[in-house]
Amino acid sequence: MKQNRCDQTPAWKALADHYLDKGRSFDARDALSGDAGRFTALSQQAPHVFADLSKNLIDGATEQLLQDLASQTGVLAHRDAMFAGAKINSTEDRAVMHFLLREPKGVPGGTLRAERAAVHETLDRMLAYAEAERADDAITDVVNIGIGGSDLGPQMVTIALDAFATPKKRFHFVSNVDGHELAGVLRHLKPQSTLFLIASKTFTTIETMTNAQSARQWFESQGGTDVARHFAALTTNVEAASKFGISTTFGFWDWVGGRYSLWSAIGLPIAIAIGADGFRELLAGAHAMDEHFRTAPPEQNLPLRLGLLDVWYRNFHGFTSRSVAPYHSALRRFPAYLQQLEMESNGKRVDLDGKALAFGTSPVVWGEPGTNGQHAYFQMLHQGTDVVPLEFIAVRDAAHDLQGHHAKLLANALAQAQALLQGKADAGGHRHFPGNRPSTFFVLDRLDAASLGALIALYEHRVFVSGAVWGINSFDQWGVELGKVLAKDIEPRLASGDASNLDASTAGLLARLRA
Ligand code: F6P
Repeated sequence: MKQNRCDQTPAWKALADHYLDKGRSFDARDALSGDAGRFTALSQQAPHVFADLSKNLIDGATEQLLQDLASQTGVLAHRDAMFAGAKINSTEDRAVMHFLLREPKGVPGGTLRAERAAVHETLDRMLAYAEAERADDAITDVVNIGIGGSDLGPQMVTIALDAFATPKKRFHFVSNVDGHELAGVLRHLKPQSTLFLIASKTFTTIETMTNAQSARQWFESQGGTDVARHFAALTTNVEAASKFGISTTFGFWDWVGGRYSLWSAIGLPIAIAIGADGFRELLAGAHAMDEHFRTAPPEQNLPLRLGLLDVWYRNFHGFTSRSVAPYHSALRRFPAYLQQLEMESNGKRVDLDGKALAFGTSPVVWGEPGTNGQHAYFQMLHQGTDVVPLEFIAVRDAAHDLQGHHAKLLANALAQAQALLQGKADAGGHRHFPGNRPSTFFVLDRLDAASLGALIALYEHRVFVSGAVWGINSFDQWGVELGKVLAKDIEPRLASGDASNLDASTAGLLARLRA
């Protein structure tokens, strides 16, 4: 579908004027003290996730102009095209249907009848396998070998839901081609009590194939005999998995992007950890957010509001990064997961026609769990020269009963958001906090499978929204290809020393690493 370039719409011009007129001098402190209804107007309860946007540099007029931008760039039509199964991943000629993976059984099949049936057939089979493995006390260690979307999603969720995981198994995630990682895990394992999950959409990724080969060699050299029992593949490339010698395979489809794949067979380690019912709750939470995104009116549509806020900050305020601070240590891998989700999706410099853009796209996304970040880089957030919008994720109920901790944790989250907003005057300068530093505050009642599913889907859709406004393809990742090709060329040179046709820097470093 052809859409208007965002920077050529009347709404873009109106937003640019609004920024000069009010936006750049907007003071969220004054807005909050001057408008008793601001918290109510700028906060909302979406499925499983409460969001307070009222400390941001926006008001009703800003949001209205951003909604105009969304309609002038066809964001909701693009959303509907995704949910209808259109091939919106145009550079790869693929549909984008991770939402199908989270639909409950019984949704009328329509034109996606075959896909819906295949999703549930695979899900039922995978969850039955997960339950059997879960109940098998002979398996004490599950090793997921995969990288990118075949690592970050399942790893992040397995860690986040540790409170619900079987205590009878340990879960390991090996992604790096650096042999130190695999060797460090294998050192503690025995073949007869280990299950390897080889997770790769393509089953060609060098890191994963190298680690999988080494894992199998280790397995056999340590006396392991039953590869079929101890190795399973999670992939769209069932043929390559069987060539590798793996007979237990759970498939998925080309319309599931790697960074959107934790809901598919790639989620098997999650299902073994938290069980079939837990995995279905994760899917149900995400589905609730899908329905919210698909049907909520624009002004109460949280992914839409957040994606538009991201555009406001990136393109009008010129903020180049956004930080996320989950105030729950089990969400410690969430920032890393979000980096792939947002930066691999929206780190693009051309529009759908391949024409260069004249405006910025993906911000740098980064963060660490609170309160740790407070004692590291929050100094810069409070007093640095750059404004970095910050996102707090707080969880009301703790999953432990240690006295005193949770109140301190939540108090810190609230206090940091308050300090960023309020600032503090000090004539000396060094102790001066400028304040008016924007933040968004999310609250989950508890961190469980359903709320985590909803939170992840919220971020997925928000990334969709900013990508749709920018008119880019959020679902390809050509930018990772060049380095892969060059590494193939360089690898034999490390053995041979051949530096022909290399730039002087690369040649010098090659020699140094060979010395
Ligand atoms: O190189 C980037 C990437 O293509 C990611 O998009 C993907 O999640 C990752 O590699 C792993 O790919 P695969 O699952 O095919 O091994």
